[in-house]
Amino acid sequence: MKKVLVTYLILLLAGVALFTGCQKSGIDIGIAMPETHVARWVTDGAKLKENAEALGYTAEVTFGDADQTKQNKQIQDFITKGVKLIVVASINTGINTVLADAKKEGIEIISYDRLLMDSGDFNYYMTFNLEKVGTLQGQAIIDALDLDNATETKYITLFGGSPTDNNAYFFYKGALDVLRPYIDKGILQVVGPFPKTHTDKETFQQIATPGWRAEEAKKRMENLLTGDAKDYVLDAVLAPNDPVGRAIVEACMNDAKYDSIAKLPVVTGQDGELATVQYILEGKQYMTVFKDSRELAKATIQLADAILKKKTPNIPGTVKTTFNTNVKDVTTYLLDPVLVTKDNVKKIIIDSGYYTPEELKTIGQ
Ligand code: GAL
Repeated sequence: MKKVLVTYLILLLAGVALFTGCQKSGIDIGIAMPETHVARWVTDGAKLKENAEALGYTAEVTFGDADQTKQNKQIQDFITKGVKLIVVASINTGINTVLADAKKEGIEIISYDRLLMDSGDFNYYMTFNLEKVGTLQGQAIIDALDLDNATETKYITLFGGSPTDNNAYFFYKGALDVLRPYIDKGILQVVGPFPKTHTDKETFQQIATPGWRAEEAKKRMENLLTGDAKDYVLDAVLAPNDPVGRAIVEACMNDAKYDSIAKLPVVTGQDGELATVQYILEGKQYMTVFKDSRELAKATIQLADAILKKKTPNIPGTVKTTFNTNVKDVTTYLLDPVLVTKDNVKKIIIDSGYYTPEELKTIGQ
């Protein structure tokens, strides 16, 4: 009799341990955003969760603080919680080990905005037309400087995004494609390092912004102003995103050659960040490329829904193509980025309600 009781007790404890050990948390979709020092990811995380819940899914958002080890732990946690799908923008390819773990568990993965590289463990990528982002930046410089009618050489210095972010090379390619003819004709002269192609990763490192950190860009701009650009008056700076653009403006404003809005070079950007809306309205930053995260999040969750329901995805407002991860081609959906300057910033970003009235009050709008 005693033996039977002991056996029952062991089975009972094992059952409880099994249940609590692999108890599913009920989270359907894990949303892993890379960092918060670039403001746009906070907005993206919120919009993704909002869209997931609107379709009846439970979702959890994490931020990796630009630390891939930290983000990997967050993704492992999603796996333990039994998520069915993960939406992720990584920091670097150090993520690939946990992507493999997720795949082993049958978890689908959507690469969000930044392409997951050197991995074959996912099938879908959702982003904006990357090259067009760069083309809009380059064309904005051409238009702002009226290069088609230039009678004297104009001077530009170049900044790239984080060297661990595959997107950064496409942004640069798009800009170079439109600027190159003016450079080749000597109408536009590059001051400082000049990667002649987006595949020249060695030279790209010299214009890159590690981790997309604004303070890195500010330091580099300060060094340029007292170094390579000392004997020039810069007419433009190619900046890959808004925090880098604003950092470049700050460095310029501290230099006697550029210390008023009228003397600033044309500075580009990307992401339509709130602080940049103010800079554009003040004339400090010439443009940004608006990538409406409301649209990106909506399209991503529509894709997630189709995947989870095993339906053929049909994502309105996107162009379907493929991108290669160096391991395989993945099905890719591209949304259309929009040029924003002083002329249309109110209509595109403010009147469209992208920022709340409270947020706009913080910048005095
Ligand atoms: C890229 C993204 C850009 C910008 C940048 C900095 O991957 O495509 O829009 O956000 O990261 O976070």
